[in-house]
Amino acid sequence: MTSTDRTGTVLVTGAAGFIGSHTCVDLLAAGHRVVGVDNFVNSSPRVLDRLRKVADRDLEFVRLDVRDRAALGEVFRRQPIDAVIHFAALKAVGESVEMPLEYYDTNVNATLGLVGVMAEHGVHRLVFSSSCSIYGTVDTVPITEDTPARPTNPYSRTKWMCEQILADVCARDPAWQVISLRYFNPVGAHESGLLGEDPRGVPNNVMPYLAQVAVGRRAELSVFGDDYPTPDGTGVRDYIHVVDLAEGHRLALDHLADQSGHRVVNLGTGAGTSVRELHAAFSAACGRDLPYRVVARRPGDVAALVADATLAREALGWTARRSVADMCRDAWQFQRLNPGGYDDEGEPDEHVG
Ligand code: NAD
Ligand code: WQD
Repeated sequence: MTSTDRTGTVLVTGAAGFIGSHTCVDLLAAGHRVVGVDNFVNSSPRVLDRLRKVADRDLEFVRLDVRDRAALGEVFRRQPIDAVIHFAALKAVGESVEMPLEYYDTNVNATLGLVGVMAEHGVHRLVFSSSCSIYGTVDTVPITEDTPARPTNPYSRTKWMCEQILADVCARDPAWQVISLRYFNPVGAHESGLLGEDPRGVPNNVMPYLAQVAVGRRAELSVFGDDYPTPDGTGVRDYIHVVDLAEGHRLALDHLADQSGHRVVNLGTGAGTSVRELHAAFSAACGRDLPYRVVARRPGDVAALVADATLAREALGWTARRSVADMCRDAWQFQRLNPGGYDDEGEPDEHVG
């Protein structure tokens, strides 16, 4: 991948996950060769056939645990990797409080190993999945990249630690080209209805929860508090369509061809939506006023998190294009077509890995 030819072979870790799968589709459509890896701890092998179908292109896939440095090294030995997008991680805030060692191992230790293997093979271009949750409780929104990080739980600390590790590596060696993308709240699904968000167990996040209420898997949405200092009292977030987010990764890769060092960029829309507004939008999308009940605040939640998305526009030429109505329409279509998720259709028809 050179600054004139922006396509190349991209290693995507966590390729079967929610954001990884959509990003693979986008990369394949743009002409990149994709090598995906995943251990399916939080995803289904079925995603791979779906994404091949949506992209109408093939991707290489290796089933491995990203903590396994030897297995990662083997991938670099066999494939001409130009750049890496590192999605693979554990991402549930509550679970990270219960299982901190697993989170530090999977999120931090594996990133250390990956960076070491990349260095061994002379690959220095990396897009890292970071999170708006590293900002913690903020005093003002919108949030610029200069807002100090104040992570409040083990998950967010793993992301903040990785960013610091990457900054130190880049400061030492100018060959490195790294961008940490701090996503706000990714939601939605591919417009084909074949790819979407399929959390294991009871969803932690509001959008997949609403989708499961709509399809009859859950009785009602619990609205966590309506006494926040926000216009309607419910929590405000910056929801971003996963297809817009996927495109942001491709543009970040393009940008890295001309960048040295570590850069941090928010990926959000810049617009806030309250839980009440999201509930109304989803009800409109599915054509039914979804049942809900206001309950106590969820411990650890903050009133509002909204991105200042200026840097993404100026540095990457990226702006989110899809509306909250689009996000709800696509999330609902995926849930309607896949009521029990990916694994609701018998045995996988392909051996992977
Ligand atoms: P996801 O759980 O759907 O995808 C993560 C993928 O990584 C899964 O397919 C999982 O099986 C895989 N994985 C986990 N541990 C692994 C291991 N040890 N070896 C190999 N594969 C492994 O999550 P997502 O929503 O697609 O998130 C992708 C990335 O974006 C994560 O790093 C997450 O922390 C980050 N992020 C997500 C959100 C969000 O709300 N979805 C917000 C900010 C940042
Ligand atoms: C959104 C709003 C809730 C569920 C999480 C992670 C963060 C990042 C994105 C990875 C809040 C309210 C929720 C429900 C509700 N992920 N809510 N009823 O907490 O902003 O961010 O996902 O990096 O790290 O913390 O997202 O969807 O859980 O909550 O009322 O059943 O919906 O209180 O106001 P959150 P969320």
